[in-house]
Amino acid sequence: MTAITADERAELVRRAGEARRSAYAPYSGFPVGAAVLTGSGAIYPGANVENAAYPSGICAERAAVFYAISQGEREVRAVAVVNASGGTPCGSCRQVISEFGPQARVIVADKDGRVVREADLSELLPYAFGAGDLPPKDQSTSRDRGPL
Ligand code: THU
Repeated sequence: MTAITADERAELVRRAGEARRSAYAPYSGFPVGAAVLTGSGAIYPGANVENAAYPSGICAERAAVFYAISQGEREVRAVAVVNASGGTPCGSCRQVISEFGPQARVIVADKDGRVVREADLSELLPYAFGAGDLPPKDQSTSRDRGPL
């Protein structure tokens, strides 16, 4: 469980709501905004970006996490999401958040900024697959044992 302050929560929700205004969601009509609070204390926003080739789009939460990580961050403390229904992050986003914040606090707010759900990532993704489930890197794996 990652504790966040009331001020951090309020600011994260505000930034996620702001990011939602930049969503590109002409196909679903479901704009989503996200904001990630990192280990350094910085906040990184993201929005869903859709594509005419539907699977090429990206969710707001992953856009925000990838933005943070690509700026050098490595720890996700909390993620706020703003959408119209109060829907929680999809499975792919839960997995991506888990890589950098297995105990991250996840806050979902509606389009008026009211928090409708809050949980730890570990509650949303129990028994998550992680780096510890992979073989040690210095050990040969079946992938290495080809005939060539
Ligand atoms: N979406 C998100 O941005 N986050 C979620 O957790 C669920 C879905 C986006 C993807 C797509 O652009 C639209 O919402 C409808 O699925």
